[in-house]
This record gives sequence, structure tokens and C-alpha cells, in this order.
Amino acid sequence: MKQRARNLYRVAFVAIVVAGAAIVEYSPGANAQAVGAAADKKDGLRAVQATAVEVAEGKRIAQATCVRCHGLDGISTAKGVPHLAGQRPAYLYLELRAYQSGARGKKVMDGAVEFLGDDALVKVAAYYASLDPAPPVAASGAKAAPAKPDPVRAGKAAAAACAGCHGEGGISKTPGMPNLVALDPKYLVAAMKSYKSGQRKHDLMKSMLAAVSDADMNNVALYYALQTPARAQTPAAGNRSAGKTAAAACAGCHGNQGVSTNPAAPSLAGQDAQYLATALQAYKNGSRSDATMKSLAAALDDRVTKDMAAFYAAQPPQPPDVRKPLTTAEWVQKCDRCHGVNGNSTDPFLPALAGQRAEYMVKVLHDYRTRVHQSSTMAAMSDALTEADIENLAAYYARQKARAVVFMPVPGQ
Ligand code: HEC
Ligand code: HEC
Ligand code: HEC
Ligand code: HEC
Repeated sequence: MKQRARNLYRVAFVAIVVAGAAIVEYSPGANAQAVGAAADKKDGLRAVQATAVEVAEGKRIAQATCVRCHGLDGISTAKGVPHLAGQRPAYLYLELRAYQSGARGKKVMDGAVEFLGDDALVKVAAYYASLDPAPPVAASGAKAAPAKPDPVRAGKAAAAACAGCHGEGGISKTPGMPNLVALDPKYLVAAMKSYKSGQRKHDLMKSMLAAVSDADMNNVALYYALQTPARAQTPAAGNRSAGKTAAAACAGCHGNQGVSTNPAAPSLAGQDAQYLATALQAYKNGSRSDATMKSLAAALDDRVTKDMAAFYAAQPPQPPDVRKPLTTAEWVQKCDRCHGVNGNSTDPFLPALAGQRAEYMVKVLHDYRTRVHQSSTMAAMSDALTEADIENLAAYYARQKARAVVFMPVPGQ
């Protein structure tokens, strides 16, 4: 995508934007082939020039059609309306085409561009691109939302209350207290919710989790899943090798050595032996309801249970398949690869993000996600972002200083 845009830039796009005067020139000519090869909305590029005179015409079009929402200075004061001032000219033009074709949803902008011809779109795009960009939002300004906390750090903070029983980093030192490391976060969250709702009967855990929000349950589970696993530092009485034989029946769901790959069936490797025996007892007597485990546990006598618990407790636990989420700074590095350093795009086809309104960026990122706004590149990017990432990134870019870019003709080869 980026490469394609670059190629187009080199062969077909020459724009000079200097202090109020803009020249936008699409000159396919001998390079028409390269332009033709460009798919999606870049298809319609053709030779168009916008001279200073035409930028002035662009201003008149803006005056007649766009001012009531975008202002004559292209600096928005209304929720949901983006700044246009200083935005990259080819990007503005292509977005106007996208509104015309419906590729950006059919609502607000539809009426405004419906009756404008291509020349008018180029001129009005050149006009807004030529303006001074909006100033950045102050870091301490009322509009700058406080950064959403890092989920792992938030999880660590919430897990402080659990260490007394479950051990530092979720490695138990107390017989009867389960390890919380090496468990899939989905399993951990389900277990916590089930205590909280009373479905899994345990008054102590119910009260422990009463004040823990869903968000914190997710954070705590993520925190434990990212800790280096270790076996519970608790004793295990029982015959491991007898346990190993009996555990063959459990391998299908819990893994050969108690390392499960199915988030629904927890890993048992390295788990505290006494807890394992208690859990099997709980399935048996129904205080923990699970039809599969109930019938399996019913067939186990105390000795076999003890042996299996000793076997599993001795197995080396493995980290679940979870990656540490990227920080906002790490995301910014990825976004900047296309959107330019601190969101100051130097590619006329790629929008600058610096100084753009945060709430607009939040909205537009959701629109990419729901495909109301179609862009395969941004669909993939936005799918990978959490709500907190979206808010943090939008707030970050809104605080960056927007810089106008001067596009120079590329010498022919
Ligand atoms: C009724 C209010 C309204 C009018 C009139 C209007 N716009 Fe918009 N414009 C919006 C809103 C709202 C959005 C954001 C819509 C969205 O989220 O897709 C927008 C988005 C845009 C965008 C996309 C910017 C970006 O960063 O992606 C461009 C370009 C644009 N308008 C240009 C114009 C031009 C040029 C005119 C006049 C011909 C105009 N608009 C008239 C409300 C308006
Ligand atoms: C006072 C001791 C204590 C504290 C503090 C405590 N727990 Fe527990 N936790 C237990 C006990 C005992 C069990 C086993 C209950 C059972 O048999 O179902 C347990 C079980 C669990 C389980 C189920 C593990 C599994 O393998 O299914 C999870 C998850 C859990 N606790 C999370 C937490 C979290 C998160 C906190 C801190 C917010 C916490 N616990 C605080 C004692 C405690
Ligand atoms: C058909 C799949 C399946 C088989 C076979 C199976 N389990 Fe399970 N096991 C599960 C599921 C699913 C859970 C989680 C149930 C729940 O949410 O309470 C579970 C939970 C457990 C737990 C609770 C762990 C914890 O952290 O709280 C223990 C202990 C356990 N199984 C032991 C065994 C043993 C021992 C065997 C072999 C005799 C066995 N399981 C066979 C599916 C299976
Ligand atoms: C591979 C290149 C690429 C990367 C990486 C990328 N973007 Fe984009 N982005 C684009 C393109 C292309 C568009 C214009 C899409 C369209 O036609 O609407 C865009 C548009 C946007 C817009 C809409 C701008 C406006 O004015 O409406 C936002 C906001 C945005 N990107 C944010 C991000 C964020 C945040 C990241 C990092 C998580 C990111 N992008 C990463 C290529 C990229």
C-alpha cells in the first residue's frame, strides 16, 4: 500500500504548497501505466493542475459549501468534524472522492460533495491543504484525556492483594492455595467471574473478588499470564509414577504433561498438589459444577487423586500463549512508518495525524474497524488496537505539532 502510494507519488504527483499558494498537478502522461495499475480509489488520477488562481477558486467553493462545518480556516470547532488545514492535498482529494463513491459511509459529507465536479474537488483540496495547520492540543489541556493505564501495570497493582495467599507473581508457597501463573488468561478470568457470581462456590474468593472490576480481572489475568512460570513451592505427598499412569486419561484435555493448549481446560503442570486434590473433590461433591470433570472425578479414589496431584505438581509449567500488549510509544513507531514522524506525513497520499482532533481520530478509527470507512490498511491496523490504545493514540497525536509540508517536484528519470 505504502509502496504503491510512493510509486504514484514519484511518477504522478507533483505538488508545491507554499504559503497560501498551491499547485497540485497530476501528470500521468508517459506513466499512465503505473497510475492505471493502482487499484482502489487512486484509479481516477488524471492530469489536473491547481494554480494560485485555482486555489482562490477553491477558497470560493469552500466559502459556498464547506464553511459552515469546516470554517474558512479549515480549523474545526465542532465535535466529529476534522481539521482540514494543512492536511496533505492528495489525501484530501481522495477522501472527497471516497465520500462521493460511498466508501466512507453515506452520511454527513455526502450532501456536501454530491454536486461537485472533479476540478472543484481538486481546487478545494488544494485550498485547505495550503492553510496553516491547527495548533496542537496542550498536554495539560482540558481536551487531552489522561492516558489510560498500561494493562499489565494495572494488573500488577491489583494483584498485590492476592500475593498473601497466591504468592508473589502467582507462585504459591502455601499448601491449598493454587498457583496463578502459567494459566491462560481466559481461564483465569472465567474462574474469577464464576466465583464472583457464586456459580463456583467459595465464600473467601467471592469476597476477595467482590470489589474487583471486569477490567481489573482482565488486567490481573494478563499480569499473571506474563510472569515467568514456576512450580508451586509446596509439598506433594503421593506416588508420582503411579500418578503418571493414571493421568494418561486426562492428557486429551489437560496436555501430556499437564500443559494444556485449550484455554477452557486449565494447565495442571506445577500446580499445588493439595489444591488439585481439593478441586477434584469439589467437582465430585458438586460445589464446583462441570459435567465432564464431575463424572471423571467420581471415578477417582483418594489414593489415585493424591498420586495424580503429585505427578502434575512435579511437571514443569509453561507460559501460556500470550504476548505483551504494545505500549502507546511502541504503537506510535508503527503508525509513524506511514503517517510520518509524530504523525507529520511527508507522503501526499497519507494523512497527517499531528494536531488532528482526538475525538475525530477515535471516531474514524472505530469507523475503520466497523468498515463504515473502507481502507484495508487501516482496517488491519485498527483491528489490532484495544479501546485504550485508540484513546491513547488519538490523545498522543492531537498533542503533536502539525507541520505544513512542501512538496517538491521529483526530477524525472
Ligand atoms: C454538514 C457539515 C459538513 C460540510 C458542509 C462539509 N463537511 Fe467535510 N466533514 C464533515 C464531517 C462531520 C466530517 C467527518 C466525517 C467522517 O467521520 O467521515 C468531514 C470530513 C471531511 C473530510 C475528511 C478529512 C479527513 O481527515 O479524513 C474532508 C476532506 C472534508 N470533510 C472536506 C470537505 C469539503 C471540501 C467540504 C465542502 C465542499 C466539506 N467537507 C463540507 C462535515 C462537513
Ligand atoms: C485469603 C487467601 C486468598 C486471597 C487473598 C486470594 N485468594 Fe484466590 N484463592 C484462594 C483459595 C483458597 C482458592 C481455591 C478455592 C477453590 O477451592 O475453589 C483460590 C482460588 C483462586 C482462583 C482459581 C484458580 C484455579 O486454578 O481455578 C483464582 C483465579 C484466584 N483465586 C484469583 C485470586 C485473585 C485475582 C486474588 C486477588 C484479587 C485472590 N485470588 C486472592 C485464596 C485466596
Ligand atoms: C474432556 C476434557 C477433560 C478431561 C478428559 C479431563 N479434564 Fe479436567 N478439566 C476440564 C475442564 C474443561 C476443566 C475446567 C472446568 C471448570 O471451569 O471448572 C477442568 C478442570 C480440572 C481441574 C481444576 C484445575 C484448576 O486449576 O482449578 C482439575 C484439577 C482437573 N481438571 C483434573 C483432571 C484430571 C485429574 C483428569 C483425568 C482424570 C481430567 N481433569 C480430565 C476438562 C477435562
Ligand atoms: C501501512 C501504512 C499505515 C500504517 C502503519 C498506519 N496507517 Fe493510518 N492510514 C493509512 C492510510 C493509507 C490512511 C488513509 C485511509 C483512507 O483512505 O481512509 C490512514 C488513515 C488514518 C487515519 C484517518 C485520518 C483522517 O484524517 O481521517 C487515522 C486516524 C489513522 N490512519 C491512524 C493510524 C494509527 C493510530 C496507526 C497506528 C496504530 C496507523 N494509522 C497506522 C496508512 C497507515
